[in-house]
Amino acid sequence: MRKSQFDAWAAAELDAVESALDAWVPADAPAGLGQAMRYGVLDGGKRLRPLLVLAAAQAVDGEREAALRAACAVELIHAYSLVHDDMPCMDNDVLRRGKPTVHVRFGEAQAMLAGDAMQALAFEVLTPEQGVAPALQARLCALLARAAGHAGMAGGQAIDLASIGKPLDEQSLRDMHHRKTGALLQGSVLMGAACGPIGAAAWDALAVYGDALGLAFQVVDDILDVTQASETLGKTAGKDLDNNKPTYVSVLGLERARAHALELREKAQAALRRSGLADTTALSLLADKVVERDN
Ligand code: IPE
Ligand code: IPE
Ligand code: MG
Ligand code: MG
Ligand code: MG
Repeated sequence: MRKSQFDAWAAAELDAVESALDAWVPADAPAGLGQAMRYGVLDGGKRLRPLLVLAAAQAVDGEREAALRAACAVELIHAYSLVHDDMPCMDNDVLRRGKPTVHVRFGEAQAMLAGDAMQALAFEVLTPEQGVAPALQARLCALLARAAGHAGMAGGQAIDLASIGKPLDEQSLRDMHHRKTGALLQGSVLMGAACGPIGAAAWDALAVYGDALGLAFQVVDDILDVTQASETLGKTAGKDLDNNKPTYVSVLGLERARAHALELREKAQAALRRSGLADTTALSLLADKVVERDN
């Protein structure tokens, strides 16, 4: 892919992901659950994780059906994590993706269930009757479960809540961010990579890329929380300070946090350069987007 082709590639892939999610997230789940699920998943979000899956799949010439399913499955897990993250028992937020949060709109119990159902749906999407080889289905489920569960996102969120008001050192903060956000971003890259033939060296390089990019993403999220307005973010600005959360900004200060995000981008892009993969343009440009974004 040439750099000039990236925007058209991304637009087409975002359309494909949106249509697939629209088809797979059921409107007719009982007692309004479907409405709450669709509200939390559709028409919003940058869809960075699906793009990472699809960019990695493109780099390894991966199987399309598997990659599209993996892209949607990761987004379902991510959307569920946001629904629960916003609930009063966690970050207690009322604005997400420019709209009232799911629990504000549908009530807490429905928000909890919508998140539960999105998580299960992710694994249903990964395991179709046909179209994806069983061994690949199992591999994708394992990568996603690992990234979403106790060792990854859920574990990181537990540390996040246990850290309120505590002055974490940089290493503990890095560990928390790696888990709560980095794991799912790295998992996205590896799920895409698993969709095609790939050697051990390239796999390891993509793991380093995903790891650095995942951490950079949350460092930038912490920065944007203090530098951007709620209208730009589509979520409440200044929430970390309000909730007394340790962040890269509170621990390192704004300037060092910014410098660190740039270092992590360089680490990610250096890993791509030594991966031996023929075309990593999309992955490299996505790393630029992660550190240059304003929402
Ligand atoms: C926000 O993720 C939550 C974090 C893990 C920091 P995104 O910034 O990717 O949120 P959406 O998907 O674009 O709404
Ligand atoms: C969220 O981190 C990480 C998740 C697993 C959802 P934050 O709590 O900083 O995310 P935002 O800022 O609310 O999107
Ligand atoms: Mg949170
Ligand atoms: Mg939050
Ligand atoms: Mg945040």
